[in-house]
Amino acid sequence: MYRSHNCGELRIEHKGQSVAISGWLNASRDFGGMTFIDLRDRYGITQVVFNMDDDAKLCERARKLGREFVLKIEGKVRERSNKNLNRATGEIEIEASKLEVLNTSKVPPFTIEDETDGGDDLRMKFRYLDIRRNSVKDSLIFRGKLAIETRKYLDSQEFIEVETPVLIKSTPEGARDFVVPSRMNPGQFYALPQSPQTFKQLLMVAGMDRYFQIVKCFRDEDLRADRQPEFTQIDCEMAFVTREDVLNTFEGLTKSLFKTMKGIELEDFPRMTYDEAMVKYGSDKPDVRFDMEFVELDDLVKGHGFGVFDNAELVVGICAKGCAEAFSNKKIKELTAWMQRPQIGAKGLVNVKCLSGEIKSSVGKFYTQEQLSEWCHRFEAEEGDMLLILSGEAERTRKQLNELRLKMGHDLGLIGEDDFKPLWIVDFPLLEWDETSERFHAMHHPFTSPKKEDVERMLNGDHATMKSLRANAYDLVINGAEIGGGSIRIHDRALQSKNFELLGFSEQEAEDQFGFLLGAFEYGAPPHGGIAFGFDRLCAVMNGQSSIRDFIAFPKNNQGRDMMIDAPAPIHEEQYEELYLQSTAIVEEV
Ligand code: AMO
Repeated sequence: MYRSHNCGELRIEHKGQSVAISGWLNASRDFGGMTFIDLRDRYGITQVVFNMDDDAKLCERARKLGREFVLKIEGKVRERSNKNLNRATGEIEIEASKLEVLNTSKVPPFTIEDETDGGDDLRMKFRYLDIRRNSVKDSLIFRGKLAIETRKYLDSQEFIEVETPVLIKSTPEGARDFVVPSRMNPGQFYALPQSPQTFKQLLMVAGMDRYFQIVKCFRDEDLRADRQPEFTQIDCEMAFVTREDVLNTFEGLTKSLFKTMKGIELEDFPRMTYDEAMVKYGSDKPDVRFDMEFVELDDLVKGHGFGVFDNAELVVGICAKGCAEAFSNKKIKELTAWMQRPQIGAKGLVNVKCLSGEIKSSVGKFYTQEQLSEWCHRFEAEEGDMLLILSGEAERTRKQLNELRLKMGHDLGLIGEDDFKPLWIVDFPLLEWDETSERFHAMHHPFTSPKKEDVERMLNGDHATMKSLRANAYDLVINGAEIGGGSIRIHDRALQSKNFELLGFSEQEAEDQFGFLLGAFEYGAPPHGGIAFGFDRLCAVMNGQSSIRDFIAFPKNNQGRDMMIDAPAPIHEEQYEELYLQSTAIVEEV
């Protein structure tokens, strides 16, 4: 028997009991007459004491143990004289009578503590050591429990978990595919699913009615803190539903997960249209934990001789409460430089300080005090507030102001760490016009239905009409992160064909790529719709984190590399032959 108890279990009630525990040596302290060891496992840390007077030989052995050695200890539980109330086991210690070294360990390359000295790549290379740290371990435990709670809830709502294949044909979700060569079909490739989108729709045609899957998806796209090349979705689809049914079901799931996992009762989620979100926050995933809504000024600022504003498509700003005094010229210069970085690309930043007696502004020479006062009035600014104003092409300016708003929200401490503010963004545009390729792209994906009232315009409208079509699509946003996205689907073959045509597919291309789905639509496809939550993102947001990495046991770095197993990696020359591929060596020779 390796253990009678785990390292997080023993309490004062166990005083006097003989026990055995096993785990890793977290730390040791040698005081000559006594040696203390902290033994760690998944459940916690227990202090073990070796006493020179009781057993000098045993104490000598304990002194020689290194960090991360794997040990089995037997002994008696006793009350500690010097209690550590920050630790669950901190009232007791084990007086060791037996020590068995189950395995030795090299000195780990970074300290296995909550605050580690290991850089990101080192932590990833030795991820199995990193996972021994509380923060990563707790994140993975949270993830495991969240998956179970998700399954419980969806099961209670009659959803059936169905596995869909991983070796498939490309599904367009906006990223590049990872492809897998087929040995048995020379020159042909599978694609790894960007999502199980087409399969879940086929399951609706098949009559499964309510499907879900906690499923790996693969997307070859640029990576960021909230994006991994392989990630997990809670993927769902429902038949015979309207948008309301889907939103209510998944609002229910989200509320239930927050309640069971965090004890938080979320209020009903507000809804905001895409247009409103863009106008008020310059983002389709607004962080509504703080206000600072955009205020447009075009009618007030144009025609007074300030060319930058006169020539701008949009003049728009935010009000930073109580910042007029705190923001010196130097601070404003720094803020302007931050906005002018290529990542944001603002040309300049106009400020207006609502101070007693006088309103001061970087563009004060173009406007009278009365005019500036009208601006302040529009922002409902009070004395001591500061306006920050941008101008330029509308869409770009809104995006830039969104960055500024988020920075101000963070810097001014307006964002409550334990605050959770979910909302639904609805009525996305159906199509996006891409100037470079001169074609439409689906804003969500090609299977998303237009809103009912737009179907007629979609079937018969001109090019300009297409830009104004609204999709029956929705996103769940929590604290400024896009947690989920979905839509009511097209279930009619003619409308689906029209959508492919608008997206630039020839009839043949649509047939080649999606013939299986179009064909299925001819066999009684029910009205259906669904949604997918980013499971890794949900984990991170529920824990107030912006990076999803530590909620994934073995994540990839920003270059898409697994630092631990060193993948991707070259394959053997024979594998190229088997797969009918040319190795780069052969290509270079040619
Ligand atoms: P969508 O593409 O919006 O929709 O994806 C759904 C959710 O998945 C998460 N997500 C990611 N998480 C981590 N890394 C990534 N690279 C990544 N990409 C996406 C996001 C996102 O909201 N088939 C549709 C769903 C549907 O229509 O039902 C789909 O995949 O949280």
